[in-house]
Amino acid sequence: MNVNGRNYCTIWVHPENQRVIQVIDQRLLPFEFKIVDLQTAGDAFEAIRNMTVRGAPLIGVTGAFGIYLSLIRSSDRNWREELQQSAVYLKSARPTAVNLAILIDEMTARLSGCNSRKQAIDLALETAGRQKLREIAWSEAIGNFGCALIEEISKRKNGQPVNILTHCNAGWLACIDWGTATAPIYKAFQKNIPLHVWVDETRPRNQGARLTAWELSQEGVPHTVIPDNAGGHLMQHGMVDLCIVGSDRTTSRGDVANKIGTYLKALAAFDNKVPFYVALPSSSIDFSMKDGIKEIPIEQRDGEEVTWMEGMLENGLPGKVNVLNLTSPVANYAFDVTPSRYVTGLITERGICPATEEGIRLLFPKPHVPRDL
Ligand code: MRU
Repeated sequence: MNVNGRNYCTIWVHPENQRVIQVIDQRLLPFEFKIVDLQTAGDAFEAIRNMTVRGAPLIGVTGAFGIYLSLIRSSDRNWREELQQSAVYLKSARPTAVNLAILIDEMTARLSGCNSRKQAIDLALETAGRQKLREIAWSEAIGNFGCALIEEISKRKNGQPVNILTHCNAGWLACIDWGTATAPIYKAFQKNIPLHVWVDETRPRNQGARLTAWELSQEGVPHTVIPDNAGGHLMQHGMVDLCIVGSDRTTSRGDVANKIGTYLKALAAFDNKVPFYVALPSSSIDFSMKDGIKEIPIEQRDGEEVTWMEGMLENGLPGKVNVLNLTSPVANYAFDVTPSRYVTGLITERGICPATEEGIRLLFPKPHVPRDL
């Protein structure tokens, strides 16, 4: 999508050196647009872990390119063992987004037939590239299916702007292009359907305020940033027509793990009869799990993310301010699980389905990747 009028996606092979992968440093946005080089599997691991790159689909593709980078530096004799070690290592970078494990497993399965390190390097580069393109195609398909929902509401409102609430950043920055939750919004906006987006700030890291708001600004989409605790009030006053959020892991029966605070928005939506949709590619579906609350691993991050708020200081430089009593303990759960009963539907690359085992199975009768590669 657009960055100052220029088209970008979130990850690419260096145009002059294909041993280097380039990504946008999302920790600095919206204050600075900086591109960083990943040259080793360690670089890819750190970029995922420290959230230089984040968002489930992008984490997955970065992990896949991480495998490619690890092969470049592996030895001719032990490349198979080193590949397995790198896969375990990269998968451990962040626990909740299942895309990371799914794409790395898909990659290692494809590489298992290789007879030489050289062959494996070539195939890894090709596979990661295909996985990237597939995510773009899936996001675009999600956009088209979700756009129809927005169009329907717009007709009911006689062309009055459709108010959509979203949480965190499930935009193109979290994916490769288009986004998941934002893809229907971008598609509808391109069709001139009047709309407005309520952007949850999404404490503690403020992905909504810092990333989603920036993305929407770059595309010219009308939006308003709100504190995390405002959504319920807006819904009670008829100011939200539709919620669309992303997912880091959705179970086979439709329970959804997403950024912390998503569950509370779903409860408010349910109480106010506001449709609550989750937009996700099938690379975010964990077919091995059913009960999201019991089974999905929830990442706990450093308490410093709560204690100190990052931003632009009055002197125009990036910095941190302490926002709470430093001797108070803090807890920093990064995700929560919304039970499927609060989800109106799942917007996937194959269409929209109920958040139920039957609904998901109808769209994905053969659950296992690799597919469409
Ligand atoms: O911790 P993050 O920023 O990686 O969390 C991202 C989210 O929770 C997104 O909403 C989710 O990955 C869906 S992204 C398309």
